Amino acid sequence: MTSAPSDALEATRTRLSRVDGQAGELIIGGFRLEDLAPRATFEEVIFLLWNDRLPTATELADLRDRLAQERVLAPAARDSLRAAVGRGVRSMDALRLAVESQAIEAPTASDDSPAAWLAQAERLVARMPMLAAAYARLRAGLEPIAPPREIGHAAAYLYALRGELADSHAVRALETYFNTVIDHGLNASTFTARVVASTHSDMVAAVAAALAALKGPLHGGAPGPALAMMEEIERRQKESGRSLEGETEAYVRETVAGGGRLMGFGHRVYKVRDPRADVLGRAADGLASDPERAAFLNRAKVIEQVTLRVLEEVKPGRQLRTNVEFYTAMLLQCIGLPPDLFTPTFAVARVAGWTAHILEQRFDGRLIRPLEVYIGAERRAWVPLESRQHAEG
Ligand code: ACO
Repeated sequence: MTSAPSDALEATRTRLSRVDGQAGELIIGGFRLEDLAPRATFEEVIFLLWNDRLPTATELADLRDRLAQERVLAPAARDSLRAAVGRGVRSMDALRLAVESQAIEAPTASDDSPAAWLAQAERLVARMPMLAAAYARLRAGLEPIAPPREIGHAAAYLYALRGELADSHAVRALETYFNTVIDHGLNASTFTARVVASTHSDMVAAVAAALAALKGPLHGGAPGPALAMMEEIERRQKESGRSLEGETEAYVRETVAGGGRLMGFGHRVYKVRDPRADVLGRAADGLASDPERAAFLNRAKVIEQVTLRVLEEVKPGRQLRTNVEFYTAMLLQCIGLPPDLFTPTFAVARVAGWTAHILEQRFDGRLIRPLEVYIGAERRAWVPLESRQHAEG
């Protein structure tokens, strides 16, 4: 039996982000999330992850310019999205197919240099919002639309969706959301991307694989259900005539008694607090100047507070706190994004983190080959076909 290398349990090393569940802390590129996300532009955080430092003004302007130049919808992607919408393909599948179509647009080149991989990273980060927005517009019977070159990434996404400039509060809130979810340790999609990159495959393939992992409801799919839960409580409240507090309390008790879960609460790693929820909660507050948004946020906060109180009572000691998905739902709903664009919007931000991990793994890492624990049978005796009387165990 060969002995395992001492680092067998360590899948990889990264300088990109650190998740500390015990402290309730997330470090991105060396910065505490709370210090970075509300202040930085998304382009600054992208530069930080790709270069391990903040950009100078000139470097930032150059990056903004290069991303703006790449913010186009290539013909193969447009055809792919049109076909997907025509056949009722869901948003995350449409997005992955459109990303993969980049292999047609730019067939894998012989240039395997860091510069060539970085150029691919820029293209994918620039194009992801164009793909998500084009999907949404085609589905609504509208033609895709190109954003003006001079606006930033978050503003460009909203423009590509709506064909008009969004208000500055919505842009700032979306930018804070992008910064908040850009990277989160070795989560499932990031790990997937790193595994593909570790084989020296290519950037497009690694990002497409990450999108496939993100699609699953255990990973990127929770904000839609969190919003659906809020809507269900409000619908029941209208029917019953109870207060929002009373209806929420009844809903939480019934859900838990029935073995169900409250969407947007609890986390595998964060037990004292999810720092992303705090940052997004404050970002959502920035949208409260609009009375309709303010009323929605107030209702969501009532639902949150009652849910936390009742969970503490019916699930004592489980340390169930509000997680990032609850506030994502609140924030993206306030900005006016449709729920089936929540996960693609997550991908618009997370693709920057994926590409940083892909670059790190491709050029600083080695093949990822974790150990498995074999739990199958040992040394069975071979039985010829004609002698088998029953199904072998
Ligand atoms: N609502 C009600 N009870 C819950 C919830 C919840 N949201 N989350 C955990 N619990 C309870 C469980 O029923 C269990 O109770 P028990 O001890 O009586 O059996 C206890 O808390 C521990 O549950 P686990 O499943 O062991 O906790 P785990 O850390 O594995 O789960 C998870 C984390 C999956 C996020 C869970 O809290 C959950 O299902 N939340 C709802 C879905 C959600 O919001 N997902 C998004 C998470 S954020 C992200 O992944 C990006």
